Amino acid sequence: MSTRISVIGMGTMGVGIAQILIASGYEVMWLGHNKNSVEAGLAGIDASLHKAVKKGMMTEQKMTDAKGMLSTTTEYKDIEGSEAIIEAVKESVDVKIDVLRSADRHRGHSVIATNTSSISITRLSEALEDKGAFLGMHFFNPAPVMKLVELVVTEHTSEEAEGRARSIANACGKTAVRVNDYPGFIANNILIPMLYEAAILLERNVAEKEGIDTIARLGLNHPMGPFELADFIGLDVCKEMADSIYDATKDERFKTPDSIKGMVAAGKLGRKTGEGFYIYKEGRQGA
Ligand code: 3HC
Repeated sequence: MSTRISVIGMGTMGVGIAQILIASGYEVMWLGHNKNSVEAGLAGIDASLHKAVKKGMMTEQKMTDAKGMLSTTTEYKDIEGSEAIIEAVKESVDVKIDVLRSADRHRGHSVIATNTSSISITRLSEALEDKGAFLGMHFFNPAPVMKLVELVVTEHTSEEAEGRARSIANACGKTAVRVNDYPGFIANNILIPMLYEAAILLERNVAEKEGIDTIARLGLNHPMGPFELADFIGLDVCKEMADSIYDATKDERFKTPDSIKGMVAAGKLGRKTGEGFYIYKEGRQGA
């Protein structure tokens, strides 16, 4: 019998994490908030699995086998008996604490991990009875493609919990890197100042946005330029991450540039709203 992992949350990251687990042979119990989120989650994972087949990352047969490993529920009691529980609900301390508390009641002996970009793992650990079983597993978007997981440990995280989380990440083909709990961990501390520096250079009219993106792609070998990437992540998500790091550190590098603040206020959030730095038509970059 295969090992069972529970995933909580059916947004972009929940979909991606559930997908990599079922594609790696884990049975997944996928918990959604209500019937509507379950339906949306299933549509999302179906589309993402088809994308993986189209890209030659898996065969049609493997996709069918993977789908057979997935069960959905809206009841916390169904997560009982899991090797691990991975929470990937929206990036809000209150919502995450609420969900983690409910999950903890049905945890049994499982490790419990949160996927967050910048919320303090130590703060979230307050929701749990046994803080030793808890850590952060920070996956990157798109989760099926990105090879890294930051394993974020607190002073309480046990070696056993860290080891089990690492084994799961490795079994999914990811490299796991241990990081001590710190505002923004490592990757987003590097990423946000880079994205914001690009926005400031654009505000100063040093080059056009297309030029700056080309420079990062061809001169630095980044797969996407900073504006393409910011639009891909979502400008609201970038700002939320930056605000969270700024609140904790008061580091000026995390103060959101006016141009990005303006776009967020205007609802121009990037690909998901059809406009950010660029305009998108059917997911493609337009004029
Ligand atoms: N399964 C599901 N979706 C996939 C996929 C797969 N196997 N492979 C690609 N995709 C998605 C992409 O996300 C993209 O989304 P879209 O449909 O909404 O446009 C789409 O497929 C198209 O991909 P393309 O074929 O156009 O492009 P490539 O496959 O060549 O590369 C990419 C796409 C992997 C996104 C590449 O450009 C890349 O690596 N970009 C950088 C991504 C990055 O830096 N991510 C980290 C973000 S920061 C983060 O996650 C931290 C968090 O805390 C915010």
